[in-house]
Amino acid sequence: MAILVTGGAGYIGSHTVVELQNAGYDVVVIDNLSNSSEKSLERVSKITGKDVKFYKTDIRDREGLNAVFEKESIDSCIHFAGLKAVGESVQKPWEYYENNIAGTLTLVDVMRQHNVKNIIFSSSATVYGDPAVIPITEECPKGQCTNPYGWTKSMLEQILSDIQKADNEWNVVLLRYFNPIGAHKSGLIGENPNGIPNNLMPYITQVAVGKLKELGVFGNDYDTPDGTGVRDYIHVVDLAKGHVKALKKLEDNSGLSIYNLGTGNGYSVLDIVKNFEAATGVKIPYVIKPRRPGDIAVCYSDASKAEKELGWKAEFGIKEMCADSWNWQSHNPNGYEE
Ligand code: NAD
Ligand code: UFG
Repeated sequence: MAILVTGGAGYIGSHTVVELQNAGYDVVVIDNLSNSSEKSLERVSKITGKDVKFYKTDIRDREGLNAVFEKESIDSCIHFAGLKAVGESVQKPWEYYENNIAGTLTLVDVMRQHNVKNIIFSSSATVYGDPAVIPITEECPKGQCTNPYGWTKSMLEQILSDIQKADNEWNVVLLRYFNPIGAHKSGLIGENPNGIPNNLMPYITQVAVGKLKELGVFGNDYDTPDGTGVRDYIHVVDLAKGHVKALKKLEDNSGLSIYNLGTGNGYSVLDIVKNFEAATGVKIPYVIKPRRPGDIAVCYSDASKAEKELGWKAEFGIKEMCADSWNWQSHNPNGYEE
């Protein structure tokens, strides 16, 4: 039996394929490569010494999905495929709702027609909106999202929960990621954003490698110790391992479960700059800019539920996150392009 990984050529997906193969799972990847390169999977093979079965398929393509399910013996799905750029989602809401929601509905329909009813879904701390409590527990009520991307996550959580409620043969794990950064120790796979990065760490590494002049720090007048935004950064390898633990949970017919995947620690933008400089010896020039619309001041997790119920805990600290991000970027200044 194999695990279907949608979006497996992407940043978190490729790291998860490594951990799945290392744990002995058979893996089948589908991806439309809209935001990734097949080269990431060649690199995964280099790391694990195992081939990765790959189908270039869109999750909205019912026929394409049917063909994969007919050919492969799929047991469970880890569903990463989706568009994820917050700013772009404000400009192109239809594209985001269609890709993420219509895509997931098609995927889930094809899954149930093949009697595959185990799914792990990539959700996000963004579903908490401006969180009602800090640190954020899973009981914290979902909030108002500030962009269509966030709403697709919030809505898909509801859709998958309703589907599980109506048919208890389904096992659904909703994983709410905090801020994944870092890369595999080998430096062979990592985050590879198109164009100018939106997120903090890829922006910093591109400044460090000389592709961008300086970091813009979005606001220094938040109610935080140094005035800059605080987030719960988590090493992508820890995040990937969380999926392997979540799979074990599904195997126990767990019904519906929801977990935060974070470290429980909050770091400000300037903490990240300082830690990056300390870990790499590379100076990051920065300027203070106005706040970015839609940003919140503070977001970090209470990650104790995942520890208690999944036996999962993030192991890497901020030093490794910074060093591994830099190791990837400095060895691959243009990502997967030669
Ligand atoms: P990514 O863009 O690197 O990976 C997503 C992959 O899905 C890409 O390879 C892309 O080509 C593929 N894809 C997109 N639409 C598709 C479609 N219709 N059919 C088939 N493949 C499709 O992003 P990532 O950072 O690895 O994120 C993975 C998942 O985790 C996404 O659902 C994202 O929303 C979620 N998430 C990411 C973060 C983050 O900060 N990176 C935080 C919370 C949640
Ligand atoms: N920041 C800067 N300058 C930049 C980029 C970011 O100062 O160039 C700041 C932001 O203002 C924020 C922090 O760095 O305070 C982190 O910003 P990111 O864009 O890296 O991450 P966000 O917390 O805004 O969003 C991320 C993902 C979302 C996800 C959310 C919650 O991009 O998809 O975490 O999980 F929904």
